Formats: sequence, C-alpha cells, structure tokens
Amino acid sequence: MIVGFDGVPIVRGGGRPDEIVAGEVRPSLAREARRLWGVENNIYQFGHRGYVAVDGGARDCPYSYMKDLVTKESSEMAEEARTKVIEATSMEWELMPQHVELYHREIVSAADADGMGVRASSVLWEKIGVGGAVLPHYHNVAEIIHITVGQVRLLCNGEWRTYRAGDTFHVPAGVVHSVVNDDTVPTEQISIFLPVEENMPANRFFETVQVPVPVDRPLAKGAK
Ligand SMILES: [Fe+2]
Repeated sequence: MIVGFDGVPIVRGGGRPDEIVAGEVRPSLAREARRLWGVENNIYQFGHRGYVAVDGGARDCPYSYMKDLVTKESSEMAEEARTKVIEATSMEWELMPQHVELYHREIVSAADADGMGVRASSVLWEKIGVGGAVLPHYHNVAEIIHITVGQVRLLCNGEWRTYRAGDTFHVPAGVVHSVVNDDTVPTEQISIFLPVEENMPANRFFETVQVPVPVDRPLAKGAK
C-alpha cells in the first residue's frame, strides 16, 4: 500500500505474494499543504487553539508552550542531558608501548568532554605492571595524577620520591615527570589531562542544587 501525504491510500495491493504496485507520490503536495492548510495542520492547530482558548481572547499567547515550541528552552522540550556510564567490564587495557608495562583505559575522551561542554583532553585509568614505568616525559597539557593502588616512585621536580595510594600529583604543562611501579603488585592511577590556555578566566568552585528524589537504599542514621 502506498499512502499519500494526507493519509489517504493512493494504491493498495491485492494481497498476492511478490505483487508489485505502483503509485505517484508528489512531495510538493505535502509542502504545499504544510504551508497553506490550517484545519488539517495539527502543529498549527496545537498552537492556534492555545492562542484563542482564553475568555475574551488574548493578544499574546498566554501559554508558555507556544514560546517553547519556538525556543525549545523548556526542560520538557529541550534535548535531555543524560548520565553516561562506562562499565569497567566493557573496557580493555591498552598497552602504551612507548613506556614500560603501562596500560590504560580512557574513561573520558576529548569527544566526551566536548559532549559535556567542558575543556579536557583526556582522563585515563592507568595500570603500571610490576617493573613497569611511565618513562620521563612532558606534554603541552597539565596533568593531575591520583594514585589509587600501590606504591610508586615519582620523578618530582628533579628528584625521585616514594608515594602511595591516595596521593595526588599536580604536574603543570611542560614539566618533566615519571611514575615507576615501586610495588610487588601492579599499581593504578587516574590521570586527568587538562588543556592550558592563555587568558583563561579564573576558575571557581561549583554550585550544587539538591532535589527531593528519594534514594533507593536506607541511609545512615541522621542523614537527610
Ligand atoms: Fe604525563
């Protein structure tokens, strides 16, 4: 069956297998109807009825959805931002061959950062095998390294020092650094790479708004 722009079937098949039916579809008719039809145009009706359904009439439409249709700024109309989850089980460790026994999983890519409207080059979950190392290097982005598992040696301002899980390093762009496994098990760290830009506006702490959505687990006594 072929149906025209107005929902009326143009031609129907006879129910026979492999039957070929033919009909003329004219997109220009749909464009013309979209432009000229009123009563049959549902989108037009939706807005128009909202406009006149006020006692005594209204010069300006009193309903916000009219503006929302245009601006799409209503939370219901706007494209909904969603939390993205990357499960560890879906990720593979990738060897970084320019170092020694260094593996990484990229948990935030530059494209991910773009999608969230933030400036970030990459966030890596890194694993350094026993005897492995992130060899001395520098780069054109700043790096924040947070050790999550094990003990490491860090090349820090020209000296080697020992650090362990929980410690955090702030490495400016252009500064040589290196992290070496100093443990009997693989060490792990989160490395956040942030672009450095001239004329950066001053950073500031963020604002948080709590919303009254119940959590689905009992909370500790005294918690709200
Ligand atoms: Fe680095």
